[in-house]
Amino acid sequence: MSLPTGTHVLPDPQAVAREAAERLIVACSETESERIAICLAGGSTPKVLYGLLAGPDYAARVPWERIHWFFGDDRVVPWDDERSNVRMVREAFGHGSRIPATHLHFIPSDAGAEAGARAYERILLDFYGADRLDPARPLFDLVLLGIGEDGHTASLFPGKPALGETDRLVTPVPEAGLEPFVPRITLTFPALASSRHVLFLVTGAGKRRALARLAAGEALPAGRVTSQGDVAWLLDEAAAG
Ligand code: 6PG
Repeated sequence: MSLPTGTHVLPDPQAVAREAAERLIVACSETESERIAICLAGGSTPKVLYGLLAGPDYAARVPWERIHWFFGDDRVVPWDDERSNVRMVREAFGHGSRIPATHLHFIPSDAGAEAGARAYERILLDFYGADRLDPARPLFDLVLLGIGEDGHTASLFPGKPALGETDRLVTPVPEAGLEPFVPRITLTFPALASSRHVLFLVTGAGKRRALARLAAGEALPAGRVTSQGDVAWLLDEAAAG
């Protein structure tokens, strides 16, 4: 199976998380800007990375006071719901996390899918300091993503209208294509592309089929993500097959 270019296979989920932590730290060191913008992946895979970053091996190397953390998507559920990416991130980084409260930018999913999407787009643009993205100045220093078993990423599901969104940075997803089947709010391809680095974290045998479909040339959503810099894939051996 020919994997996407920029793919690295590592022994296990812990090795994937460690490599991702190192790359995050490098991405932070590359920018002169006082503020660093990192877009967090949802789901379960990135929990290992988030726990590592907040843990004794990496915490001192992370510029917590400069990083602003955003979300690539969320489910339209209360933030304390077990399906919420806000809850997952809070738990994974630890409740006493080093992230200043003003630096963790939740998607206002409590406003509902449409209103929440509009509100989050405003949050992104206010942080960016303009009403339109400039191709020469990416919004994110690093975008972290996963891939679903159907080849989705963020909440960009195969066959859904959000894939065709080219103007909005954030859009509602009334019907998710995979569980949990709740409405979502997701960043769009243009928003994800406004990045210096995109890094996919993929672990577990359950992702083999999606990776094989990508390698066979299927235009799955995860394979359509671009960046102004590089798109890299970190797989563990179970996912790589
Ligand atoms: C979400 C994520 C989603 C996730 C993939 C993989 O909110 O669920 O944004 O795109 O990255 O579904 O999820 P796992 O890491 O749980 O396999």
